[in-house]
Amino acid sequence: MFLFCMVTTMNDPKVIVALDYPTAQDALDMADRLDPKMCRVKVGKELFTVAGPDVVKQLMAKGFDVFLDLKFHDIPNTVAAAVKVAAQMGVWMVNVHASGGSRMMRAAREAVDSVANNVTHLIAVTVLTSMSPEDLSETGISKSPLEQVLYLADLAKQAGMDGVVCSAQETQTLRKALGDDFLLVTPGIRMPGDSAGDQRRVVSPADALKNGSSYLVMGRSITGAVDPISVLNEVNGYQ
Ligand code: C5P
Repeated sequence: MFLFCMVTTMNDPKVIVALDYPTAQDALDMADRLDPKMCRVKVGKELFTVAGPDVVKQLMAKGFDVFLDLKFHDIPNTVAAAVKVAAQMGVWMVNVHASGGSRMMRAAREAVDSVANNVTHLIAVTVLTSMSPEDLSETGISKSPLEQVLYLADLAKQAGMDGVVCSAQETQTLRKALGDDFLLVTPGIRMPGDSAGDQRRVVSPADALKNGSSYLVMGRSITGAVDPISVLNEVNGYQ
């Protein structure tokens, strides 16, 4: 009897695993359990602050596409310079805050485009998925999260962004308004039964994909699971 072991790979893995760890070694240990053909990885503020560009380069050397999630929000010149060095490093994706305004986003666009053979997607954060309507109104914004996300996503598209970060609760509306080519990257993903933690606008992976998410950012639901690979395989099975 022959046993066929089929290795399935994906051309465009939809899951981005958030490597939110306090040391490079923790992040690299998790990366060693993952397969770059089955997911991408995200380096955020905690890991980057402790381990810097070295860990980004080490992850890329292991074959991973890296989303550098530093959510830049500063004067146009500073943000442009920061995304330019990220693009020169060859990261797969980098982001800025749409609330930094269109002049800041356009400067970032020009800076990324000035890099020869650029491979970096430039996207903008709309409203953090950890924010509830009350959190938003506390910052002086009286629109609902959906209205504010739509407003900022439209601004981001006009400023030349490749897509936005939003909640999968908002993707159906954004898909209709902004078209099929605009990337919708959605954190706030939870497996049924998982705790929401600090996130507020959460959605299951199956619903997020159904609602039109381009990529799912998943941190604790994968990295905090007893068997992270089986959770990743389960999510990949929804595609
Ligand atoms: O553990 P969890 O799945 O909540 O992790 C979500 C990840 O996505 C975190 O690294 C967080 O910083 C990031 N993120 C987010 N909301 C955004 C942008 C990024 O939660 N709008």
